[in-house]
Amino acid sequence: SSSGSMIVVSNRLPFVLQRNAEGKLVRKASAGGLVTAVAPVVINGSGLWVGWPGLHLANPNEPIPESDPDDITPTAGLRSEKVVAVQIDPVVFDSYYNGCCNATFWPLFHSMPDRATFKREHWHNYTTANKEFANCTMKALTSLPRRTGNDVPLIWIHDYHLMLAANWVRQGAEEEGIMCKLGFFLHIPFPPWDIFRLFPWGDEILQGMLACDMVGFHITDYCLNFVDCCQRNLGCRVDRKNLLVEHGGRSVRVRPLPIGIPFERFVELSEKAPKVLSTNQKIVLGVDRLDYTKGLVHRLLAFEKLLENHPQHKENVSLLQISVPSRTDVKEYQELKEEMDQLVGRINGKFTTPNWSPIRYIYGCVSQDELAAFYRDSAVGLVTPLRDGMNLVAKEFVACQINTPPGVLIVSPFAGAGETMHEALICNPYEINDASEVIHRALTMPEDERILRMNYLRRREKLNDVNYWTKSFLSAMGSLLTQEDHDD
Ligand code: UDP
Ligand code: G6P
Repeated sequence: SSSGSMIVVSNRLPFVLQRNAEGKLVRKASAGGLVTAVAPVVINGSGLWVGWPGLHLANPNEPIPESDPDDITPTAGLRSEKVVAVQIDPVVFDSYYNGCCNATFWPLFHSMPDRATFKREHWHNYTTANKEFANCTMKALTSLPRRTGNDVPLIWIHDYHLMLAANWVRQGAEEEGIMCKLGFFLHIPFPPWDIFRLFPWGDEILQGMLACDMVGFHITDYCLNFVDCCQRNLGCRVDRKNLLVEHGGRSVRVRPLPIGIPFERFVELSEKAPKVLSTNQKIVLGVDRLDYTKGLVHRLLAFEKLLENHPQHKENVSLLQISVPSRTDVKEYQELKEEMDQLVGRINGKFTTPNWSPIRYIYGCVSQDELAAFYRDSAVGLVTPLRDGMNLVAKEFVACQINTPPGVLIVSPFAGAGETMHEALICNPYEINDASEVIHRALTMPEDERILRMNYLRRREKLNDVNYWTKSFLSAMGSLLTQEDHDD
C-alpha cells in the first residue's frame, strides 16, 4: 500500500469548466491521455489535484461545481473538495499554453523542430505560470495534515507544461520544513539531445526536472535521451545502466513507466454499449485529437491508395475517423483542420457511390459509450502517428475487441505503444504505399491469426493496466513496500 497522501499537479484538471445559459458553472469532460490515466488515482485515493479549470474566473473564489449526477466519464467522481483550481492572468496563460507549451515544446519534443517557434517572451511566461502552479501546490501541501516518519506526502507533477514547477516546490517545502517526495512524469516523448539542444533555455528545463526525486518516461529510449541531455548540457555524472543522474548532491532516478489504461472499465463499456455502426461495411477506425503528430494526412492518403490498388474494398470498407478539436488557437492546428477538410472532401468526391462513402469524418468529441462501441465493432484499429509518447487509443481498442473473431490493430513504430504491442501489425506511416498494403493485409487476415494476435495483445494490456502503472510509479518513488525496499 502507498504511504501518505498524493498531490497531483497537471496543467489540465480532468474537466473543463463552462458557463451554461443561466451563467452557472458546469463541468465538461476533457479529452487526452493524461487525464484518462491519472483520474482514477486521485478519485480512488486520498489525493488532491492541482490544475487549470479551462476557464478564467472573474471571481477566483467562485466554488467549483460537483459533476453532473448522470455523468459517466471516468473523471466524474472527482469531488470538488479534492480540486485546487489554478488561476493565471489570461495574457500570461495564453503565452504559456498556446505559445511555449503548444507551439514550442509540443513540436520540439515530438522531433518536429520545423514546426516549433522559439520566443523569449513565451519562455518568460512559461516560467511565471510554473511559479504559480508551484505556489498553489505549496498551498495544497501546507493544507495537508502533518505526517511523521516515513509517511510523507507525494507530489506528482505531470507533463511538458510543468517542467520547472518542481524547483519552487522543493525550495518552498525546504523553507517551510515540510517533508515531501517529488515525482515527475512526461506523457510525451523526450527527444534526442540533437533536437533538445535547439531550445535556447534547455539547461533550466533539465534542472527543473532534476529537482524531483524520480523522473518517469513511457519507454527506455526517452529515459536514455534525458540522461544524455543531463550529461551533455549540465555535465552531470550519470549511470546509464541503472538510469541515475547526479544533481545538486542528490541522485535522481530515471525510470521507464509505460502507461496503461483502465482495462476492465473499457471491457465493461464495450459489453454494455449498444450497436451504433451499420453492419453493411467493414470499418477501419481512427480516433485522435486533431493534431499534426497523429499522421492524419498520411492516413487518409494511405486509405485512398488502398482503394486504388485494391478496388475490391470499394463499397465494402469505410474509414471512420474521429478527430477531436484540440488547441484551436494555435496556427498549426487551424491549418491542419483546413487541410483535413479539403482532403476528406477530395477523396470522398472521387470515390463516393450512391450507397457508400469511403471516409466518414467526425470533427468532434464522442461519448465514452459510443467510443467503446466503435472500438468493439471495427475491423481494423488504425493508430499511425508520426510520433506519439504512448497512444492510449491503441490500448483502448484492444480492450474493447470482445467480439469473436476479433479485428486487427495497426500501430506505428513511432508511438510508444509500438514498442510493446508486438502482435499488432507495424506500419511506417511515412511510406503511403506500404501503409496501404498493411491495411490490406489487416482486412484480409485469416481468423485464426486475428484471434492469436488479439489474445496476446489483450492479455498484456489487462496485466499492465493503469493500476499497474500507478503502482510502478509509487514503487519507483520508494513509496510502496516492495522487494526493492527490502534489498536497500
Ligand atoms: N478520447 C476522448 N474523447 C473522444 C476521443 C478520444 O476522451 O472523443 C480519449 C481517448 O479515449 C483516449 C484519449 O482521449 O483516452 C487520447 O489519448 P492518447 O494517448 O491516444 O492521445 P493524446 O490525446 O494524449 O495525444
Ligand atoms: C496530451 C498531453 C496532455 C494534454 C492532452 C490534451 O495527452 O500529454 O498533457 O492534456 O494532450 O491536450 P490539451 O492541450 O487540450 O490539454
